[in-house]
Amino acid sequence: MNISILFVCLGNICRSPAAEGIFRKMVDEEKLAIDIDSAGTGGWHTGKPPDPRMQKTALARGYNLSTLRARQINRQDCQNFDYIIAMDKDNLREIKRLCPNSKAEIKLFLDYAPSSKTEVPDPYYGGREGFNIVIDLIEDASAGLLAKIKEQLA
Ligand code: 4NP
Repeated sequence: MNISILFVCLGNICRSPAAEGIFRKMVDEEKLAIDIDSAGTGGWHTGKPPDPRMQKTALARGYNLSTLRARQINRQDCQNFDYIIAMDKDNLREIKRLCPNSKAEIKLFLDYAPSSKTEVPDPYYGGREGFNIVIDLIEDASAGLLAKIKEQLA
């Protein structure tokens, strides 16, 4: 079975779909077989594509998020994924509450990054630059997570 990873933020329209698209591109470039998905701890945006601001910023940096659709995390996810990765501490707490008996590695995304920051900040109510910061942080953490998984596969 492939290693499977679920990226989780609040709305599943900004940070976690960006993580899904960015990490998938890196995995595809390395020709690795890893199952990747994303979800929100909240369900308000279920069925919606990523926020247009996130899509635009991501596309300018080579990541096409247009086919992704938001969904809410559910209890089945706790069993279905090897890694469940939270963008911030609120989401981490919510995942741990939903998944008390999960065998998944449940961690903050930036635990895998060399950065001194601990959270990928919510860009929803901020300006344009917030979306580029999100992508910078996700690229760093994705490289760290991929290196760890490649060690695991070796
Ligand atoms: P995300 O950003 O968690 O990165 O998808 C947000 C999207 C929507 C809302 C908050 C954060 N919202 O409050 O609707």
